[in-house]
Amino acid sequence: MSINRSNDYDKFASKRHYEVTNGIKKSLRFVEKPMMISMLPDLKDKKILMLGCGTAEESELLSKYEPKKLTGIDISEKSIAIARKSYPNCNFYVGDMIKLPFKDNEFDFIFSSLAISHVEDKDRVFKELYRVLNNEGELLFSVGHPMRFATEKINYNDSTYHVIGFETSDNGKQILGKYMSHTKQINYFKDGEILKEYIAPPSFFFEVLINNHFKIENFKESRCIEDCKKIDINYYNRFHEIPQFMAFLVKK
Ligand SMILES: C[S@@+](CC[C@H](N)C(=O)[O-])C[C@H]1O[C@@H](n2cnc3c(N)ncnc32)[C@H](O)[C@@H]1O
Repeated sequence: MSINRSNDYDKFASKRHYEVTNGIKKSLRFVEKPMMISMLPDLKDKKILMLGCGTAEESELLSKYEPKKLTGIDISEKSIAIARKSYPNCNFYVGDMIKLPFKDNEFDFIFSSLAISHVEDKDRVFKELYRVLNNEGELLFSVGHPMRFATEKINYNDSTYHVIGFETSDNGKQILGKYMSHTKQINYFKDGEILKEYIAPPSFFFEVLINNHFKIENFKESRCIEDCKKIDINYYNRFHEIPQFMAFLVKK
């Protein structure tokens, strides 16, 4: 299969696996995963697809709910190699979510953490997910929230701020951040590598999901959980009030 590699997670695979398994990534440990867990439907005996599973630490989380079968897919070969070694009871594929190597109606549930935002053509993704879900099947996915990821960085009083806003003076023209646009966001990692993300507001996702015949069951904006307070109070204060992520639970 020819793969459109627009986001190269191969470079981060082992670092990411180390950080996630050791609870170093606060955004996953205290914000995103607690939100996703709080929205899970009954998974007992379900056939589950983990979409954009990366190194697939989520298979450990999902296996606790006694599914029938766990399958993972990701575009990054290195991530899938680590996933295969770490979670030998699951099946893993290297592939692109816009053209999945699965039959129609194959899965009861699709779980996708922070992966769909890497693909620009969301309509194509949701059409493909609708196809591989069986009737009444459910999809739970999270993406970056524009309140955090569509902001602009500004420096003020020796600090850096992530800002969405506008100048209030009568002739003020300046707008910081783009909340409503389907923005192309470049993430800069500490080592200078870049990844593309396409951030959009909740209304954008609701529209594409409804156009693709999904029924909306639940929607959440993330809040950092209390456990984070003893580890990093500033991180807690920041992301208890400002949503970093959002998640949608929808049904075919
Ligand atoms: C932020 S990571 C999330 C990994 C994992 N779900 C987690 O929560 O730890 C995003 C993942 O999406 C994958 N990805 C990006 N574009 C993809 C595509 N078109 N098809 C499949 N996976 C893709 C990346 O390779 C990466 O592993």
